[in-house]
Amino acid sequence: MMERTDRHFRTLFRLMSRHARLTTEMIHAGALVHGDARRFLAHGQDPGATAIQLGGDKAEDLALASRMAVDAGYDEVNLNVGCPSERVQQGRFGAILMREPHVVADLVAHLRAVVAVPVTVKHRIGVDDFDAVEDLFAFVDIVAAAGCDRFIVHARKAILCGLSPAENRTIPPLRYADVYALAARRPDLAFEINGGIADLPAATPHLNHVDGVMVGRAAWDRPLSFTAVDSDLYGDHHEIPKLADLAEMMGAWGAASGEPHRAARALLNVTTGLPGARAWRQHLTDALRPATGVDGLLVGIRDGLRAVEAASNGRPKGRRTSDDGGHPYPSVP
Ligand SMILES: Cc1cc2nc3c(=O)[nH]c(=O)nc-3n(C[C@H](O)[C@H](O)[C@H](O)COP(=O)(O)O)c2cc1C
Repeated sequence: MMERTDRHFRTLFRLMSRHARLTTEMIHAGALVHGDARRFLAHGQDPGATAIQLGGDKAEDLALASRMAVDAGYDEVNLNVGCPSERVQQGRFGAILMREPHVVADLVAHLRAVVAVPVTVKHRIGVDDFDAVEDLFAFVDIVAAAGCDRFIVHARKAILCGLSPAENRTIPPLRYADVYALAARRPDLAFEINGGIADLPAATPHLNHVDGVMVGRAAWDRPLSFTAVDSDLYGDHHEIPKLADLAEMMGAWGAASGEPHRAARALLNVTTGLPGARAWRQHLTDALRPATGVDGLLVGIRDGLRAVEAASNGRPKGRRTSDDGGHPYPSVP
């Protein structure tokens, strides 16, 4: 997710999960090839499965960008065929490409020829009036024939005229059944479902129908509600750092990365649902200005943790206040 799943947030998430597949922000292939590649490709402390998501319509740029990404250690190239923004439409990539499955197929074939890692596609269930389930089936059949065997499907169509990207994540209704039908029809392919999945209990039932679940906003808004992902979904019961340890590790990472203000940003929501969450955010927000540097981050974390601890100690067990964010959040370690 743009402005979300940067290397700092991925670092935070890896501190909780060894197994979840992570994906970068969408990076325009041209920007990677002709711009500051080092910055775009930089990892966090996020070893493990990480896909790079590329956008673009120029096969040569996408191929070169994919090779650069694989050389840099990314183990999947994911093509964005789901973004509805006007700027992206003008660039002739993103969701608009759903109308041109043969173009997507050609891009996939081109990328498959130059990289050995999986080339996957993230798309919608449709766009505008190209939204019958048969259109979706045809899209997947054509792209699969070019060598894509894993699809990440946002279970909403995109409306390309008149809705903003944010509205396109809420207004078109979720049609999970279309994704289930897709998966039932093509058991030889892998499908991950995406859209409106709020937490692990909500994710699990989808796995009766599809091979995986992609979570977007909820992971950013309430990252610690996914602490049980390894134990619940992968059977790996390793210890998860407690909040204070997690924050301290992110403080050290923020200092090492040279971008402490970005590390602070990744930490903003780790207390969502806890008493003291609002005070935590205020302290961390102070650290978001680059000028405050490492000291600002460390002070923000220290004062934020104190505020959370004070709020937890000062409140009767089981009572919720308005700064809980209203989330059922029983098990923050
Ligand atoms: C701030 C923001 C940035 C996003 N950036 C991307 C992106 O770069 N690539 C992408 O495929 N989807 C992007 N998305 C869409 C999400 O990946 C996801 O498909 C959508 O939010 C629905 O899933 P969710 O309900 O789990 O969030 C973005 C969403 C948000 C809120």
